[in-house]
Amino acid sequence: MSSPNDSEIFNPSPEVLEQANVPEYEAMYDYSITNREGFWADQAETLSWFKKWDTVLDESNAPFYKWFDGGSINIVQNAIDRHLGNANRNKMAIIWEGENGQVRNYSYNGLNREVCQFANTLKSMGVNKGDIVTIYMPQIPELIFAMLACAKIGAIHSVVYGGFSTEALASRIDDAQSRVLITADGGWRRGRQIDLKSIANEAMKRTPSIEVCICVKNNELDVEMEPARDFWLHDLKALPIASSKCETEQTSAEDPLFILYTSGTTGKPKGMLHTHGGYAVYTSTTHRMAFDIKPQDRWWCAADPGWITGHSYIVYGPLINGATIMLYEGAPNYPYPNRWWQIVEKYGINILYTSPTAIRGLMRFGDRWPQKHDLSSLRLLGSVGEPINPEAWRWYHQVIGNNKCPIIDTWWQTETGGFMVCPLPITPLKPGSATKPFFGNEISIVDDDGSEVPAGEEGKLIIKNPWPGMARTIFKDDQRYADLYWSKRDNIWCYLAGDSAKKDEDGYIWVIGRMDEVLKVSGYRLGTAEIESALVSHPQVNEAAAIGLPHELKGNAIHTYVILKQGQTGSLELELELKEHVSKELGKIATPEAVAFVDSLPKTRSGKIMRRVLKARALGQDEGDLSTLEE
Ligand code: PRX
Repeated sequence: MSSPNDSEIFNPSPEVLEQANVPEYEAMYDYSITNREGFWADQAETLSWFKKWDTVLDESNAPFYKWFDGGSINIVQNAIDRHLGNANRNKMAIIWEGENGQVRNYSYNGLNREVCQFANTLKSMGVNKGDIVTIYMPQIPELIFAMLACAKIGAIHSVVYGGFSTEALASRIDDAQSRVLITADGGWRRGRQIDLKSIANEAMKRTPSIEVCICVKNNELDVEMEPARDFWLHDLKALPIASSKCETEQTSAEDPLFILYTSGTTGKPKGMLHTHGGYAVYTSTTHRMAFDIKPQDRWWCAADPGWITGHSYIVYGPLINGATIMLYEGAPNYPYPNRWWQIVEKYGINILYTSPTAIRGLMRFGDRWPQKHDLSSLRLLGSVGEPINPEAWRWYHQVIGNNKCPIIDTWWQTETGGFMVCPLPITPLKPGSATKPFFGNEISIVDDDGSEVPAGEEGKLIIKNPWPGMARTIFKDDQRYADLYWSKRDNIWCYLAGDSAKKDEDGYIWVIGRMDEVLKVSGYRLGTAEIESALVSHPQVNEAAAIGLPHELKGNAIHTYVILKQGQTGSLELELELKEHVSKELGKIATPEAVAFVDSLPKTRSGKIMRRVLKARALGQDEGDLSTLEE
């Protein structure tokens, strides 16, 4: 992969400039910084509130900020209800295509019916405001209905990505202590049925809190249902109680909307908690401005709703903005590498938002696959999840976007809720840079002492202000949230993102990657500690270390080092068994690329594994300062 060249610039075309929702960046940015609360109040005014806020930003207990405190709003009032009284009522909200070609469409009115029925079903199962419901589903419309149904009644959803497996699901259910789990019999991937219910059954054996499991019928798998605990959704929906009318709960702006677990430096994933008010304002504003959303747009965020990208930019932001969203369950190259391009053509997609990994994966099949299709409906393209290498950027721009679609490279995190650094369509672009801060945000690159580094030098990315979409805490762990993310510099609370980055002479931000023990593999976020603890749960493994090494397609690939228990010897069979074990415990995305059997691991005197030493050795690089190495 070639390194970025900060003098290569792509200017917006006259057509892009002409129709921009935000025609000018600098003046609006200055306003958003000098009058941050005014800027966000203006955006909040575009939403529907049961009661307006008393204060825009309450900083009295920083870094535990409150946004729009005193206000009453439900995100579903904005994502669905308010569209029912206007022309959006019969507009398409969701177009879903299954991998096997099945298609289902829902208008905003149809979506409302489904969500109301689901919400009434949840109520009939005893779900109340403030309860946490875990959702473990494939990419089908019912996943979105389930999320919105929880939000509608003031329950908190905790979605676990459908690609995760037993232990990952069990630990997330356990941390949230969910009473209710919503799942499906299975999903489809590359023509195969993925057996989700069996994984859910196994997870429910490992954690005792689930009393009710609602299962969606999605394929033909014969699954085990436990009487009195497991119920088919279609049976529940047939009951009179599941009527298609349901009042939306009047939640407070700061009431929790969802928890989403994300990997950090310890083995235990962090439940990032987001709220109704600020998150609704932030996701809809960023989506509308960065992607120039127009009423007629067909928007396709080709992520999984089970990750933050899907929460913010498949479900909430786009529905609040009244867009038509595309959802596709399946692999991008199944049955052929033109599947995505076929979808773009068939549905007339205007904006495609995906990850560098997906772009690289499709690029390797060559230009002839996209060239078979009319992609002229595309107006904008987006990228997220990891730095995009310039080759992939240029291919996306030339071959998919026909040199006319700006690429909106958005840098953000589960914790930030929405875009923090991204261009607007009018921004001159440099391939590989997410460009400038979104409105309201001041971003600096600093050294270990907190001093800003000179232009072009690498440092830590920090955010010097609160923003409405920010996570409010780590579920059940306020202290960890404050300690991990926030510190005071020059009397200002700053958020430490955990990424290293550079800022060039023009103020463009170039994100380099994670600085901590978090890996980005195919854009998915995984903690080395989670992978290590999955390995150590194998009966023959004593100790393990995981690192990420550069990979052409995935960005990073997982390499592991394993010390076996006494009397055990490494073999090819055991290597395969360990890979399979991690895949079964955590999910396919966490499967190590390589397992090396070793006698010892480089550690500090206090016993911490020095992963950077393993990495340097694997790459044949200088091992750096080894003074803390034990042996
Ligand atoms: O390292 C950054 C990388 O993804 C991390 C956040 O991961 P997650 O919470 O799973 O959210 C992913 C989707 C928002 C960041 O700390 N990252 C995300 N977007 C970009 C990126 N790195 C470079 N460029 C991006 N556009």
